[in-house]
Amino acid sequence: LVSKMYQFEGSWHTQALIQGIVNCQKHFEAKDSDIILATIPKSGTTWLKALLFALIHRHKFPVSDKHPLLATNPHPLVPYLEADYCASPDVSFSELPSPRLVQTHITHRSLPVSIKSSSCKIVYCCRNPKDTFVSLWHFGRKLAPEETADYPIEKAVEAFCQGKFIGGPFWDHVLEYWYESRKNPNKVLFVTYEELKKQTEVEVKRIAEFIGCGFAAEEEVSEIVKLCSFESLSKLEVNRQGKLPNGIETNAFFRKGECGGWRDTLTESLAEVIDRTTEEKFRGSGLKFSC
Ligand code: A3P
Repeated sequence: LVSKMYQFEGSWHTQALIQGIVNCQKHFEAKDSDIILATIPKSGTTWLKALLFALIHRHKFPVSDKHPLLATNPHPLVPYLEADYCASPDVSFSELPSPRLVQTHITHRSLPVSIKSSSCKIVYCCRNPKDTFVSLWHFGRKLAPEETADYPIEKAVEAFCQGKFIGGPFWDHVLEYWYESRKNPNKVLFVTYEELKKQTEVEVKRIAEFIGCGFAAEEEVSEIVKLCSFESLSKLEVNRQGKLPNGIETNAFFRKGECGGWRDTLTESLAEVIDRTTEEKFRGSGLKFSC
């Protein structure tokens, strides 16, 4: 997989995604009411997609046994900007009801200008680098078992630390949004997978308020949290047996859903390699992960 990645504006992507980013930069016109979910892969995108979709549409789709998330994987419900622009810039986002919710893995520096200049909101979610790496490691092996079978994990860690990861270097991706969230807290909300796990309702209320749909009743929050939980979504038929339009099996997005699960995959010394890079890169930023 690493051999199929190229650098564009300082970050790593597949060739198709680079085309998507260029199309996105040229053609995507953000609206003030848009909500952009930004992540680096494997840091909780699926979870946040479900949560944001449920939050934004909660009056149209109250939690019930007819909720769209029970019948559809979260990915097709939320357009993925650069991937949807990969083949052609003609994809129409205009039919989406406002507020439009779209997702991206684009680094802050490469976002389309209109996302930065409009009043749209960016929710950024990241996850500690060891769990992010391990999640991608397993994802890659599931998606391309033959290509990855002989690829040693030591080499994968080395490539990760050199920045070779979709949207990577991981640390630069995170830091750019981190600093933006400090500079402009009304524009960028910085969320971590770990905090979201630890105090889901508190974080979901914070996200809801940020995107302008705060809660009056406690009940509604817990219903949405429950609906979007790993336990609930991963058991659904559509997420166990389904396929996305690009052929990826939906169950590839639900593996363990834990914090600190890297311990089952990484040796102490490989964990140390990632920790050293993290320490170096995050020094002085005030940013720390708990796992
Ligand atoms: P693991 O591989 O560690 O289990 P992304 O959605 O960005 O691709 O990230 C995938 C990771 O998020 C996977 O982590 C997956 O299990 C986890 N995940 C998916 N849905 C989740 C949910 N509803 N709650 C918590 N974690 C979830």
